[in-house]
Amino acid sequence: MNILIATNNKHKVREISQIFAGTDLETVSPSQINLSVEVEEDGNTFAENALKKARGFCEASGLICVADDSGLTVECLSGEPGVYSARYGGEGLDDKGRTQLLLKNMSGAKNRRAAFVCSVAMVFPDGRVVTAEGRCEGRIALSPSGNNGFGYDPVFVPDGYDKTFAELGEDEKNKISHRGRALEALEKKLSELGILK
Ligand code: IMP
Repeated sequence: MNILIATNNKHKVREISQIFAGTDLETVSPSQINLSVEVEEDGNTFAENALKKARGFCEASGLICVADDSGLTVECLSGEPGVYSARYGGEGLDDKGRTQLLLKNMSGAKNRRAAFVCSVAMVFPDGRVVTAEGRCEGRIALSPSGNNGFGYDPVFVPDGYDKTFAELGEDEKNKISHRGRALEALEKKLSELGILK
C-alpha cells in the first residue's frame, strides 16, 4: 500500500518512513511528488490537527495520507507547550530558542515530569479514517545535550534512560517515542480492519 506522509517537516518524514520501513506500507513524501500543501493547525487537540492535516493532503493529492500532530506537555507548566509546541514563544524562535525558553520557564522547578504526545490519522480517498495515539513519558533535563533528532529532543530524557532523545540513535528513539508508538498502534488497527495484510 502506498501512502503519502502528510507533513512538510523533513524530520517527521524521515522518522515516519523509517518506522514504516519493513512493513507493507510504502511511503512517499510531498517533496517527492512536488506537492505543496499548507494546512492551518488551528484545532484544540492533537487528534483534531492530525485529522485536518491528513484530510488536507488527501484532498490535494488523491492519495492515502498519514499525518501526525505531536507535542510536549510539561507538568509544572500546566501541560504547556502542548498543541502550541511548534509555535511556543511566537514565530521568531527556532527549535533552539523554544528549548531555551522552555528551560527558562522551568527554572527552579523541582517537578520536571513531561511527556511527548502524538496523534496520527490515516485518511483514505474514499473518506475512511483510522486514528491512533502514542505517548512517551519522561522528564526535562536541566540543560540540552545531544545533536540528533529535532525540536525539544535535546532536553527530553525518556523514562528508563539517562540520555536525552537527541543522544539516542534514530532506531532507539523510534522504538520508544510517542510517534513510534502511535504508528505501531495505527498499524495494528489497520491489520485488525483487514486494510493491511
Ligand atoms: P506539529 O505536530 O507540526 O504541530 O509540531 C509539533 C512540535 O512538537 C514540533 O515542532 C516540536 O517542537 C515538538 N515535537 C513533536 N515531536 C517531537 C519529537 O519527536 N522530538 C522533539 N520535539 C518534538
